[in-house]
Amino acid sequence: MIGTAAVALANARAPNPLDAMLAEAGLVNGWNKTEPSMWPLPRTDFLPAHWSYAQAAAVLDAAGAVVSTELVERRNVILANPFPGNRYPTVRTMVSAYQMVKAGETARSHRHTANALRLVLDAAPGMSTIVAGKRIPMEPGDVLLTPNWHWHGHANESSANGYWLDFLDVPLVQFLGPMFFEHHPDRFERDAPVDAASAMRFTWNSIRERLAGEVEIAPGRCEIELGDPAFQTMSLHVSRAARGKVFRYGPTTANAIFAVMEGDGASDIDQRGFVWSRGDVMSVPSGCAMTCRTSTQSYLLRVSDAPLLRSLDWLRPIANACPEQGCAITAHGSADRPDFQRADLGRAPSSIWPL
Ligand SMILES: [Fe+2]
Repeated sequence: MIGTAAVALANARAPNPLDAMLAEAGLVNGWNKTEPSMWPLPRTDFLPAHWSYAQAAAVLDAAGAVVSTELVERRNVILANPFPGNRYPTVRTMVSAYQMVKAGETARSHRHTANALRLVLDAAPGMSTIVAGKRIPMEPGDVLLTPNWHWHGHANESSANGYWLDFLDVPLVQFLGPMFFEHHPDRFERDAPVDAASAMRFTWNSIRERLAGEVEIAPGRCEIELGDPAFQTMSLHVSRAARGKVFRYGPTTANAIFAVMEGDGASDIDQRGFVWSRGDVMSVPSGCAMTCRTSTQSYLLRVSDAPLLRSLDWLRPIANACPEQGCAITAHGSADRPDFQRADLGRAPSSIWPL
């Protein structure tokens, strides 16, 4: 009887007395919601996308003529995911941006609760970042960490413009709320001693050396993790694949951003095709699978929110994530990793996971 009454109320077009009672009490009915609050498979507005370093660098060079040195820390271009109306996140929990600092410029030191990391793309000797009072060289291919609430600033004491990619968990911090930011009282930490061997730095040389000694996970392909993980919210992996290799990631509940450290190739992300080269970036939102094909030996940096999801027991594979797009998603992980093929829908292996 109650069920019949609820259905009748849900279907009623005319205002009914309950509407006034709900409004008066500051309540919203749960029997006739305009949007469901749960659904059977993960949903996302975020799209697979690709950004070209060559195009971004051209924009930054043009911006260098009009965006003053006083605003150098904001002279960046944001890789906003291209779903309608979005102006900021690259994937749900993370944002990426290209940044340029001109020769002779310094970027004001500051700190924030968002975790950040950088991948240096082009820099001449004399570029450095100062993290927690130590000056760390910025050389092409280096990955540099700036954890939560660490002071950091940048200096370009070379004769060439410097370019890098930023990755931050700002969208996650915005959602959860604990955002704090402040400028350094000295504006810039000038007397910082050099610390080339900083724990905040993964040099390009050390990354390649580690990969050279790593056991292959598939013929012509190996992968290492930077950090364990690098942050509680973001993990970093570098994959090296020989020329002509094909490999696959996902789909899982994790979001990932891929950056090309070296090489050329192409990727299909949920049936969208992208051709990439050094410095380019791709978004792989949760639920998307990516297949890569290398044209030359390639190094890919993968920044993923998998540690965050794993810590909450929400990291798992997704089957049939986009049936409306006709995706034939049946595998539960990388085609390179047979152990993932045995995984059922549900909990992911805790120690290894492709995203
Ligand atoms: Fe910052």
